[in-house]
Amino acid sequence: MALFKKKTEETASVAPVPRHVAIIMDGNGRWATNRHLPRTAGHAAGAETFRRIALHCRKLGISYLTVYAFSTENWKRPQPEVEKIMSLMKDYLLEALRDMQKNHVRIHFFGDLTALSPELQELAAEAEKESEEFTDSQVNLCINYGGRDEIVRAARAWAIRCGETGEDPANLTEEAFGKLLYSGDVPDPDLIIRPGGEMRISNFLLWQAAYAEFYYTDVLWPDFDEAELEKAVEVFRSRNRRYGGV
Ligand code: IPE
Ligand code: IPE
Ligand code: MG
Repeated sequence: MALFKKKTEETASVAPVPRHVAIIMDGNGRWATNRHLPRTAGHAAGAETFRRIALHCRKLGISYLTVYAFSTENWKRPQPEVEKIMSLMKDYLLEALRDMQKNHVRIHFFGDLTALSPELQELAAEAEKESEEFTDSQVNLCINYGGRDEIVRAARAWAIRCGETGEDPANLTEEAFGKLLYSGDVPDPDLIIRPGGEMRISNFLLWQAAYAEFYYTDVLWPDFDEAELEKAVEVFRSRNRRYGGV
């Protein structure tokens, strides 16, 4: 908690908390295996961690939280594991819809949801619609998300638009391209956190990560708690972001 005391006491000279935090929620399987539990138990524990961390992000004044829940590559996993992950997502969306008026969090999805069950797709659409009026904070859930897939889709959308409107394809700007991504109007992540000990990006937010600060930890996602989040934020605040300048 030291960090946040410092923030109110010192004011202007202290770097602000990140506006947008993105998390690669990794390590569920190993967490379960370490406890001689099935990997699916790790996903259930990881879902609980997500609930707690999302709440804590709001408390810290982080406006956007983007979490990598299921990648375009995760379909390679055994069917029962995939089913368990999808069923946990359903539980979360049902709960979010139930508590929507209390939480005031805008829910948004990054990824191709057409590969999900019709029931999950409906719940996702409902959650997005029901929460669209909330502006305090936003949670972006990346489901069937891949950074490369996202970029290809945006390129395709641009090509189609040019064909339809007669616009010159050479007019494309970084800004216009960014708007065609799932992240559309969401600012780029300031901080990307990867628990679980791996130091790789695993196809996450490839475009948006251009100037994100990275934070890795060996702590497995189900063990990642409020104190770990504050540690990551504290490290972020100590970094010197130069964006190519001096
Ligand atoms: C992250 O945990 C959850 C998903 C990728 C869906 P993992 O299931 O990848 O956990 P490890 O990396 O095998 O421990
Ligand atoms: C990244 O974790 C994807 C999610 C957390 C959803 P993975 O476990 O799939 O990544 P790799 O296979 O270690 O690169
Ligand atoms: Mg993993």
